[in-house]
Amino acid sequence: MLNSYSHYNVLKFMELLEKIKASAKNHNKRIVLPESFEERTLEAANILIEENIARIILIGDRDKIIDKASSMGFNSIEKATVINPLNHGKKQSYIDLMVKLRQSKGLSIEEASSLIEDPLYLATLMIKAGDADGEVAGAENATGDVLRPAFQYVKTLPGISVVSGAFIMILKDNYYGENGMLVFADCAVHPDPDEKELAEIAVMTARTTRAIAEMEPRVAMLSFSTKGSASHEMVDKVANATKIAQAMAPEFKFDGELQADAAIVESIGKKKAPGSEIAGRANVLVFPSLESGNIAYKLVQRLAGAEAIGPVLQGMAAPINDLSRGCSVSDIVNLVAITANQAAGIK
Ligand code: ACO
Repeated sequence: MLNSYSHYNVLKFMELLEKIKASAKNHNKRIVLPESFEERTLEAANILIEENIARIILIGDRDKIIDKASSMGFNSIEKATVINPLNHGKKQSYIDLMVKLRQSKGLSIEEASSLIEDPLYLATLMIKAGDADGEVAGAENATGDVLRPAFQYVKTLPGISVVSGAFIMILKDNYYGENGMLVFADCAVHPDPDEKELAEIAVMTARTTRAIAEMEPRVAMLSFSTKGSASHEMVDKVANATKIAQAMAPEFKFDGELQADAAIVESIGKKKAPGSEIAGRANVLVFPSLESGNIAYKLVQRLAGAEAIGPVLQGMAAPINDLSRGCSVSDIVNLVAITANQAAGIK
């Protein structure tokens, strides 16, 4: 997550993460880390327990996990709750829950009995059953493998049908966005949203911005056109999504369609979208597709040296966040803290 060195954005990055960790401590949530034998995960779990950032649940054989942790010098792991996927007391009730939820999709008791021993499935069933508040995984599993059980069992929040991923971008100077901070979405999950789904992504990103980035969102819905300067069905999609988002969440401010320069540069915003409250002042950028969002965040991170915190997955009925397989120990610690804050917001 932290990959460049500029005084301003490193300080802002650290400051935001310290705030996020401090509020996670207050929430005291139960976060499950299903990749419990993975070394960075064990080290992160040890730190999370020592700093009281969350109550940690690990999945596996308790003796084996503690032996491995002790051999690495992580003695606080003893304080984690450890669930053995093969023989814990709630195994049958989770199998019953799985079958109840997925029988209509063809799931048999035999399949459920086997899937429940997979830590990624067990973690989501624990959340569904109310035995955990959130999950962080992905240090050794691909995005799809982390998200699929989450989509199938935890599902989305009421009124939301798509999960999406936001990045908090912290720029090297304070000129754009909110003192150099912006939130981008969707950069991680849903390849080709229709207008209703794009509106949901905008609403969820506004909520993430308020809850995690601690900013009052001013949401620009991006396109290659500003207020009808071009005609195309892709432009219509973004303009319609803006109206739907505004109707879904009147407590937030959305405007679109806007080009990126009209969204973030004051003089251009005034010229291209006179009278807009958002144009030139946006601190949230919603991209029309995953392609554009994923490309944009990576270019801003690399070419502009921005720090990128995320992806923060949004729209799920309980928070489940996916790590990059190249993550560091501190990435895991930070994402658990974010997940704990999301869990507090959802409850
Ligand atoms: N939100 C909510 N539910 C979803 C979503 C979504 N965005 N996408 C799929 N689902 C649900 C489906 O409705 C379905 O539910 P059901 O079984 O109850 O009917 C279930 O998930 C499986 O749906 P599939 O269409 O089979 O989804 P699949 O598992 O094939 O793919 C995935 C989901 C893996 C997330 C896919 O959309 C994907 O690969 N997205 C891109 C992820 C990615 O590679 N991102 C870029 C890298 S991340 C980065 O750079 C930070």
